[in-house]
Amino acid sequence: MNLLGDLTTIGNSDEVVEVFNTNQERPMDAPSGTGKPTLSITDNRTGKTYEVKIEHDTIQATDLRQIKVNADDFGLMTYDPAFMNTASCKSTITYIDGDKGILHYRGYPIEQLAERCSYLEVAYLLIRGELPNKEQLDDWTTHIFAHTYAHENFKKLLEGFRHDAHPMGMFISALASLSTLYPCANRIGDPKERELAAYRLIAKAPTLAAFIYRRSMGFPYAHPDNSLSYAGNFLNMMYRIGEIKYAPHPVLEKTLDVLFILHADHEQNCSTSTMRGVGSSHVDPYSAAAGASAALYGNLHGGANEAVLRMLDEVGSVDKIPAFIKDVKEGKGRLMGFGHRVYKNYDPRASIIKRLADQVFAITGRNPKLDIALELERIALQDDYFIKRKLYPNVDFYSGLIYQAMQFPVAMFPVLFALGRMSGWIAQWAEMITDSEQKIARPRQIYLGHAKRDVPLLIQRS
Ligand code: ACO
Repeated sequence: MNLLGDLTTIGNSDEVVEVFNTNQERPMDAPSGTGKPTLSITDNRTGKTYEVKIEHDTIQATDLRQIKVNADDFGLMTYDPAFMNTASCKSTITYIDGDKGILHYRGYPIEQLAERCSYLEVAYLLIRGELPNKEQLDDWTTHIFAHTYAHENFKKLLEGFRHDAHPMGMFISALASLSTLYPCANRIGDPKERELAAYRLIAKAPTLAAFIYRRSMGFPYAHPDNSLSYAGNFLNMMYRIGEIKYAPHPVLEKTLDVLFILHADHEQNCSTSTMRGVGSSHVDPYSAAAGASAALYGNLHGGANEAVLRMLDEVGSVDKIPAFIKDVKEGKGRLMGFGHRVYKNYDPRASIIKRLADQVFAITGRNPKLDIALELERIALQDDYFIKRKLYPNVDFYSGLIYQAMQFPVAMFPVLFALGRMSGWIAQWAEMITDSEQKIARPRQIYLGHAKRDVPLLIQRS
């Protein structure tokens, strides 16, 4: 019997290394530990025992490399596709407790930030580490608004796309093209260049997004109005037609700002890991942000808000929901906007968005798809399939309904997600660049291909 707790095996049955999980409760008859923050590992191939340090409930993967069968052996690795249990960085930015449905930015609960702060304050918090005072906020806002105008070349860039190009494809390209306009941004070791890139990315992303929308619609481009708020200016660039001065509806302006806050960061998600991974090669942050946006575009990540709306259209009416849920349970598709790698409880952002939806619909009129969404949620939360797998609505389940009520085309939804996430990407990228423990991201692989063999001539190949 294993006296120390659960036994996990790595490798095949005749090559066993025992790893004792010190987090598990010990059996009653087991000896108590020494309290020493280490992990003892016995390699049953050699009979050798190793002791590795535990810090922050984690062991260093490279400590396993000392575990070898002989001197020529490369040493033990861990295998973790999709990074299910691997921390790739130490971070002080965002904290998530997925079981309890908790999300904090720099220690502040998301609910309080959404209620008491503007998006630009939250962006400052994420990037600089603390909330700004009035003077700091004014300075931050002035610097960002100084960069809202986009180079006239963007119009030409966008005109090169087909009329029906997806906005996210255009957005990714537009971000990447910023690196051609600001080549000094590749001096990533210079704090001044990093700061300038942060201002530019936060300031220009909404301008590029609005230009993309205008290009898709065939509307004339509307330039920034720096007297408006961050969200108000974005609405102005999206929707101003003919007015000398655009006045955003205050509730819709506030809602959009809150949505940006809710999307601002979410620790090491797919797009943020991409931002860090691409940035780890020391490329400029515009190129890294283009990579992060590409990662966000997928249906399993930020593209889910668009996919939810398309799914609600496909379901069509409340009476079709049982058949749709049956198909999902049979593996014929996924309930988009449900499930999360980290949250095994209600996503706290989804709760806030659900409340925001009522305020928006009071102005815009109720989105008829809300009834389908509410009923889908009600049925799913009572169904064993979803309960057993701990699948709850995530941030994308209700956000699209609000965006649609605010007249954003469905294809623009992932771009809206990217606008909010930009500050988080920058904060995480800057943290990575200034972290002395970080190096170029370069995972290992388990090679299972052919051993060395000779290349046959073409005529010899069957
Ligand atoms: N609908 C139906 N079944 C689901 C769903 C879903 N939305 N999500 C997960 N499952 C099932 C899987 O089929 C699997 O079942 P199984 O154990 O019988 O094979 C189980 O739940 C675990 O799912 P995984 O795919 O292993 O979970 P993972 O952590 O890898 O994926 C993800 C998380 C990608 C978010 C997934 O839940 C999903 O595809 N959701 C729908 C897309 C979506 O809403 N994405 C947005 C996420 S939030 C964000 O990125 C901003």
